[in-house]
Amino acid sequence: MAGHALSDEDAVAAIQAAQEYGSVVAAAAAKRMPRSTLQSRVNTARERGLDTPGSQKTIYMHTAPFVADEIPEELPPIEDLISRREDNWNRKNKTETAKKLVGVKVTTEGPIGIMLFGDIHIDDQGMNFPLFKEHLELAQTEGMLAIWVGDLQNSWIGRLGHLYADQSTTAREALALMEWAIEEIGDRLIAIIEGNHDLWAKGINRKSPIEWIRDRGRFISDEHGLRLGLRLPSGGEYIINCRHDFAGRSQWNPAHGVAKAAHLGWKDDVLIAGHTHVSGYNLLKDPASGKVSHALRIASYKHWDSFAASKGFPDQNIFECPTLIIDPERKDDRHRVQVVLDPAEAAEYLTWKREKWKAREGAT
Ligand SMILES: [Fe+2]
Repeated sequence: MAGHALSDEDAVAAIQAAQEYGSVVAAAAAKRMPRSTLQSRVNTARERGLDTPGSQKTIYMHTAPFVADEIPEELPPIEDLISRREDNWNRKNKTETAKKLVGVKVTTEGPIGIMLFGDIHIDDQGMNFPLFKEHLELAQTEGMLAIWVGDLQNSWIGRLGHLYADQSTTAREALALMEWAIEEIGDRLIAIIEGNHDLWAKGINRKSPIEWIRDRGRFISDEHGLRLGLRLPSGGEYIINCRHDFAGRSQWNPAHGVAKAAHLGWKDDVLIAGHTHVSGYNLLKDPASGKVSHALRIASYKHWDSFAASKGFPDQNIFECPTLIIDPERKDDRHRVQVVLDPAEAAEYLTWKREKWKAREGAT
């Protein structure tokens, strides 16, 4: 349907310009017009017979002593390209705007907990699998939810492929273990952030194993980060800004990059990152609004790390699964969120708080 909106006059003008300047390319340059547009108009003129000698509609006559067969244009008509670009932008803009704050409607009433799992590396030889398994069980505590900040598996690629020599779990087994863990934690899992190791597993179509699994489940996921707005039945909203990494390093403060993000504008309740396999925790208050932000760098379940050992990095793993306790009936707004570094303690605390809440609810 190329160029049917085009008038005969414009079509003829295009073909005359091509004749005048000797080629479509030269004419397009002289007329300051995209080559493809001029070519499309010339094609339309030919389709309509406007350049056929003897035709009733003939306005332009060939002067060359030959007529070559036309090679069909491979590119779509310019109108289609423009329409597609507009559609691309509208879709991209809609998606990215929605990702600035993803609403998560929590249906559990009363106090809740959110376990923040650091880098899992489920197939790594030095990964503390028994501890991870314990934490998966703790996630089943009533009122508990969970977020994973990425690097679920090693996914060694390229020059790192030789590292499979040092682990007994194959890549296929790693995927099976990952599926098992996601199945095990079930509907407690709100979100997975895809870390750099997860992104290495993307195939030629850029679909990662996590996306495959996500499409069958209820959790949400995205590359690099997600900003979640947890909406509780009580009406309160708690913003958790999750990234695999927040840029910025300080040898004196492992949570520096995360805290820097809060300083530079993300005045969220909680900001979390993994990636560097160290733990750090900064508490910040915005004096203008009074907003308190918890900035957490979460270590990894990879407790024995040959890369860290080779570089001589000091062990800075203090917690790999800090847990947020959120009580919508809190008295003091500065304490909207409590952070418990040990998830087992957090599970006991949450159970105690929920029992108290239930007793109060029953009494009213
Ligand atoms: Fe990692």
